[in-house]
Order: sequence, then C-alpha cells, then structure tokens
Amino acid sequence: MAPSVLIIGGSGAVGRPLVDEFLKHKSQFQRVAVLADPAKVSRFADAEKKGVEIVVGSFLDASSYKGFDVVVSLAGNAAMKLQPGMIEAAIAGGVRHFYPSEYGGDISVGEFWKNRYFRDKVVTRDHLAAKAKEHPDFRYTLVMTGPFTEYAVSSFNGIDFEKHTVQPYGKPGAELSVTTMADVMKYIVESMLIPFDSSKNVREFRVPGEARITWEKLMEYLGEAQGVDYHLTYLDPGEAAEKQEEARKSGNEEEEVFWAGKSVMLNGSGLIPEPLDNGKFSFTPETAKETIHRLFGKK
Ligand SMILES: NC(=O)c1ccc[n+]([C@@H]2O[C@H](COP(=O)([O-])OP(=O)(O)OC[C@H]3O[C@@H](n4cnc5c(N)ncnc54)[C@H](OP(=O)(O)O)[C@@H]3O)[C@@H](O)[C@H]2O)c1
Repeated sequence: MAPSVLIIGGSGAVGRPLVDEFLKHKSQFQRVAVLADPAKVSRFADAEKKGVEIVVGSFLDASSYKGFDVVVSLAGNAAMKLQPGMIEAAIAGGVRHFYPSEYGGDISVGEFWKNRYFRDKVVTRDHLAAKAKEHPDFRYTLVMTGPFTEYAVSSFNGIDFEKHTVQPYGKPGAELSVTTMADVMKYIVESMLIPFDSSKNVREFRVPGEARITWEKLMEYLGEAQGVDYHLTYLDPGEAAEKQEEARKSGNEEEEVFWAGKSVMLNGSGLIPEPLDNGKFSFTPETAKETIHRLFGKK
C-alpha cells in the first residue's frame, strides 16, 4: 500500500525542497503531511495550497503521529537533540518507519563519530538501534549523501568569492563525497518507494552524487566556472578545536557546534565508504563539476 508520510522540519533549508519533491510524486503516496507547531502554521500556507496536508501539534506528542506509516525528520542543529523524544512519540503514535535527520557523511566512520558537530546524530542512531530491539516491527532508514555541494562550496568553508581565496581548516589532498541538494531530495523520496527487506530493522542508502573528489578539484571547478584562479591556504584544524573548546567552556552551544563544523569538510570523513547504492535509483545524479558550473558559471 502507498505510504502515508509525515515530515518534521518541513520549513527548514532541506525541508522546503523536500516538500516540493514529495509533491512531484504525490500520487505514489497515500498522504504527504508536514507537522506544524501551532504558533507557526502560517509558514506552510503555500505548501497547503499545493496539496500538502498540515498536522498541527508537537513532535513530542504521540497524537501528532496517528495514522502515519513513515516519519522523515529534518531537524536542524538546534532540534537535533530532541530526536530521541520524537522517536518515542512516533512509536507511541503507531509509526513503524523513521528517517532520522542525517543526509550527510557516514557518521559511523573516522572522526565523525567523535566530532561534537555530529553528537546528536550519533545519539539518535543509538536510540534507533535500541528501539528496533524493543520493537521488532520498527525500522529505520539512513540516507547518506556526503556534504551537499552547495554547502561545501560556500563561505562557511573559507571561500571568498570576491577575492578568489580559500582558507579551509584541514590538510591538502583530503577526499570527500558531495551531492547537489536537488538530488538529495530525489534520493530521499525515491528511497521511500523501495520495499524494505522485512528481515531487517535498518537499511542504509549510500548515495553520493560525486563519490570521490578532492577539495582542490572542487576549487579548480569553481575557478573554471568563474574564469579565475583560487588561491588555497590551509588553516590548522587545531585552531578551530581551540575556539570550539572556548565556546563550550563559556556555555555558547551554537558557537561550539559552529567551530566543530569548521574542520569537518577536510578531515577525510566526508568520503562515503563503499558499497554505494546509487544503482538502486532511477536517475543519474549531477556531478560536482556540473553543479558548480550551474551555480557559479557565467549565465
Ligand atoms: N550534508 C550537508 O551538507 C547538509 C547541509 C544542510 C543540512 N544538512 C542536514 O539536513 C538536516 C536538516 O537541516 P536544515 O539545514 O534543513 O535545518 P534547518 O534549516 O535549521 O531547519 C530545521 C527545521 O527544524 C525545525 N526546528 C528547529 N528547532 C526546532 C525546535 N526547537 N523545535 C521544533 N522545530 C525546530 C525548524 O523549524 P522552525 O523554523 O520552526 O524552528 C526547521 O523546520 C540536518 O540533518 C542537517 O545536518 C546536511
């Protein structure tokens, strides 16, 4: 039977394009709904006009989840730590399939598992594994794409688009996987239509658009697209770690997470380990070169 899907975080940076992608495939779902905080319902007025159902309530209340098969969480950094509570409420409300807010690297490898930036994602994975043991009919899906190309090639990673300089925290030669946002949305929606092997509780889709690329190559494509040369200088990740620790000591959680994220892109963990699952999907993803030329090339 076609699944009924409830989206949490539908107003966020990833939530908005994901809702649009679901709308393109609406006939393949019984229900497509977003959960809206009672004080923020108006932000979904456009989505409602286009045919998305609005469920008003709290993501910590079991009744918000009644009648849905699948929940997709797009919690951002601030709400990430509340995901175990969402999972509890979703299970109590009858949901038996959960997509946690992942959509990045494989946090189980390398530095990621210990990095503060991913702490709440790690806790969520542990919580899901525990719940799956408690409820044999509960299952969850992890979608891993590597960093979004649009977020990798951004000022957050030290790129100055005017001066054509790049100052990231990390070492030369680090490899990563990247995926353009539009393809991330396609992977999430299409994955939901792939039958879940009933002998398992967890499945992973490792679906980077560009499976393996260096930061230098990304910057070469950026320069090529803009017709300029980028000058790269690597900064010491230890300096970012010091700022992270200062922020932690002063109780500034937002700053702490910000600095933890600074060295993520170039520490080698952003590479999605094989085997990859792109072949299970109906489309060919955009390459990093295509995305960068589309975004930054001369119009
Ligand atoms: N791989 C990458 O490069 C990449 C890039 C971007 C995002 N991501 C991942 O995608 C996921 C979603 O990120 P995002 O950028 O879309 O996040 P976001 O823009 O911060 O949006 C998060 C959503 O969570 C809701 N939210 C935040 N705090 C809340 C709270 N306390 N209570 C209830 N709702 C709350 C927000 O609703 P309100 O507006 O109502 O607060 C919003 O709808 C995350 O897992 C993130 O790591 C990955």
